[in-house]
Amino acid sequence: TAPLRLGIAGLGTVGTGVVKIVRQKANLLAQRAGRAIEITAVSARSRDKDRGVSLSGYDWEDDPVKLATREDVDVFVELMGGSDGPAKAATEAAIAAGKDVVTANKALLALHGNSLAQAAENAGQVLRFEAAVAGGIPVIKSLTEGLAGNEITRVMGVMNGTCNYILTRMQSAGLPYDEVFEEANQLGYLEADPTLDVGGIDAGHKLALLASIAFGTQVDFDGVSLEGIQNITIEDIHQAADMGYRIKLLGVARKTGRGLEQRMSPCLVPDTSPLGQLEGGTNMVVLEGDAVEQVVLRGPGAGMGPTASAVMGDVIDIARGFRISTFGIPASELAETSPATAATP
Ligand code: NAP
Ligand code: HSE
Repeated sequence: TAPLRLGIAGLGTVGTGVVKIVRQKANLLAQRAGRAIEITAVSARSRDKDRGVSLSGYDWEDDPVKLATREDVDVFVELMGGSDGPAKAATEAAIAAGKDVVTANKALLALHGNSLAQAAENAGQVLRFEAAVAGGIPVIKSLTEGLAGNEITRVMGVMNGTCNYILTRMQSAGLPYDEVFEEANQLGYLEADPTLDVGGIDAGHKLALLASIAFGTQVDFDGVSLEGIQNITIEDIHQAADMGYRIKLLGVARKTGRGLEQRMSPCLVPDTSPLGQLEGGTNMVVLEGDAVEQVVLRGPGAGMGPTASAVMGDVIDIARGFRISTFGIPASELAETSPATAATP
C-alpha cells in the first residue's frame, strides 16, 4: 500500500511533537496503520528557527496554502492556530484540493466548523480534530465511536488546563489571582491572548464542539453562556473551602425541552469529588448516556506529547481508511440549535 503523505503547517509545540512521533515511531505507526506514514513538506513562519527536531528530508513551504494543496500531500495537518487567517485559508484550500485534514485548532472549528465540515463532506474528504478538545484525552473518539449506541444526556467537565492550574494554585498556595496569573505566564501556560484562557473562551470553544457531536446539532459557540475566572478572588476560594467546596471552571451541555443548553462558568464542586480533586493542568470530561450511564475521562489537556498523541490518532484513522463525518453524523444532518439558555450543573 502507498504511504500516507502528510503536509504539516505549524512547527510549534504541537507540530514539533507530531514530527517527533513520525520520526521516532515509523515502524510502529506503519504496523498500526497498515501503511507507512511520511511527512513530505512542512511550513512555519520562520525557516531558520531551531525547533529541536530534524526536518531533513522534508520540503519547506513558506505559504501554508501552497503546502496544503501540494500534489504529494494526502493529509493536511493544520497546527498553526487562529480562528481565521492562514489556518482557515489553508484548511479550505486543502479540502478544495481533495485533501483530508487533521487539526488541533478549536478556535477555527468552534467558529467555522459547520461550513468546514460541510465543505469536507461535499468534497468527500474527512476533517478530524481530536486534539482540539481536552488535548491527549480521546474524548471525541469516545463520543463518536465507543458511545455511539447511546443517546447522550449530558456532557460536562474541566476543559482548560490553564484555568485549572490558576484555581488550584490559588487554593493550595493561598496566593491572589494576579500573582498566580503571572506565575502561569512565566511557566508559558497562557495562550498568546490570555483572555482566551481566563475568559473561558477556549473552554467554551471546546464545549461547543463536544455539544455538537453529543447532540447532533450544528456548532453553536455563540450559544455558550460564558463566564471566565478573572474575577475570582482569594476570598472566594477561602469561602468555598470553608464550606467544603472548590471553585472550578466547569462546562456543562445538555439538551432540554427548551433546546440546547451550554454553559462555561466558575462553579462550586465538593472538594472530595473527582472534579474537586483535579489538580494543575489536568482536564476531566464526564460523558453521560442513557445506556452507559456515566463515563469519566481524565488526562493531560495540553502539551507537546499529549496533543501530538491525539493528532496521530486521527492520522492513523485516516491511514486505515476510516472515513467518519467531522461531528459524527453528516454535516447536512446536524440540527439547528434553538436560542441559547444557560445550563445549571
Ligand atoms: P505554537 O507553539 O504557537 O506554534 C504555532 C506554529 O504555527 C509555529 O510554528 C508558527 O511558526 C506557525 N505559524 C503561525 N502562523 C503561521 C503562518 N502564517 N504561516 C506559517 N506558519 C505559521 O502553537 P501550538 O501550541 O503548537 O498550537 C498549535 C495549535 O494546536 C493551535 O490551534 C492550538 O490551539 C492547538 N492546541 C495546542 C495545545 C498545546 O498544548 N499547545 C493543545 C491543544 C490544542 P513559527 O514557529 O515560525 O513562529
Ligand atoms: N490553553 C489551553 C489550556 C491549551 O490551557 O487548556 C490546550 O487546549
